[in-house]
Parts: sequence; C-alpha cells; structure tokens
Amino acid sequence: MTRGVFITLEGGEGGGKSTQVQLLAHALAARGIEVTVTREPGGAPGAEQIRALLVNGETGRWDPLSEALLHYAARREHLRHTILPALAGGRWVICDRFADSTMAYQGYGHELGREVIAALHDAVVGDLAPDLTLILDIPVENGLGRAASRGGEDRYERMDRKFHDRLREGFLDIARREPRRCAVIDATGTVDEVQAAILGAVHQRLGVNVP
Ligand code: TMP
Repeated sequence: MTRGVFITLEGGEGGGKSTQVQLLAHALAARGIEVTVTREPGGAPGAEQIRALLVNGETGRWDPLSEALLHYAARREHLRHTILPALAGGRWVICDRFADSTMAYQGYGHELGREVIAALHDAVVGDLAPDLTLILDIPVENGLGRAASRGGEDRYERMDRKFHDRLREGFLDIARREPRRCAVIDATGTVDEVQAAILGAVHQRLGVNVP
C-alpha cells in the first residue's frame, strides 16, 4: 500500500488553524480521501497528558530546553500511536502543528537556536517530513487579539510580545529555507478566503483538485 499524505498546518496564535484543519479535512473527505485529523502537542493518550503540562501554568514554569524535550516526547508518542500507523494504512494525516512549531516557538521564540532543535528532531523523527506544510501567517497584534477574544488564554498566549515576534519571524524563516515543502498563507482574510488559499496550495503542490 502506498503511504498516505502528511499535511501540517502551522503558524502563531490566532491564525485560525484549527478551523482550517477541519475545513481541509472535510474537503478531502468529500473527495473520497480517508483522512485522520490530529494535533500537537497531543494526538495520542500520553501526548495529551504531556500537553496539559505545556499549555497550563506560569509562563516561566519550564526551562526552555526541558520544554522542547517535552514537546519531542509528546511527538514521539504521537508518531508511534497515531501518525505512522495512519500513513502506513494509506490515510492522509492532517496535523494541527508539528515539528516546525518546536523550531519556531522553542528554537526562535525561546532562542534555543536551530541546531539544538535539529538534533532533537533527528533523534526523534528521523527523516519523516510533511509532504506539505501550510504556514498561516498573521501580524502578531491581530493574532493575539483574535486569540484573546476566544477567552481562556493558554500559557503561550501569555508570553511577551517579543517572544511572539521572534516566532513569527521563525516560521517565515523556515518557509524561506524549505520553499518546496512550505507554503505561506495570508491568514488575515475571512475564513473563506483563507480556505480558498489553502485549497489552491493543496492543488498546486500535491496535484489534488479539492471541490
Ligand atoms: P494550540 O494552541 O495550537 O493547540 O497549541 C498549543 C500551544 O503549544 C501553542 O501556543 C503553540 C505551542 N507549541 C510549542 O510551543 N511547541 C510545539 O512544538 C508545539 C507543537 C506547540
């Protein structure tokens, strides 16, 4: 059986990723594609438990390297229990955040640097890479405003403005370094506009026409 297709959605806070993950999954399913929708941190029982440690509590509760290790521990569980079996079964996996979030948030945001994160990545993930990564880009001010209006701010949303500026630049830098894998999507538009841009990128990059 041919391996399924792995698509990740990435970006800072308030870019509407979770809504777009659902819309993309529905559009693919309507075309008869078998889809697994999942998220990080989380997506497997142990990984969801680790998520609670990461998104709750004081902003400074973790040393940045400990935090990156927790994200990679969660990712390992997620890969083993959810992502790899689904791909091996020929399913398409649509994932709300993946490894680029660790590079952007911990590597750039917390300034651990690219090398440390790349070393963790090699040890935990090896050469599995998404077939397509959609980076939903929105100015920090707008994104944090949207996220705050949703209520119940999580630990990352409470981090300072400079942290968010660095991680936005981080995502754009990742996209510049890997233009074949990454498509930057302007997330300032309406839900429909962003969805159209995403379906356009899926068509252009993966050759799949989605209704
Ligand atoms: P969510 O709000 O998109 O569900 O993600 C939870 C938070 O975790 C989000 O603020 C980004 C953060 N995060 C990291 O800092 N590093 C990571 O590797 C991942 C996957 C998420």
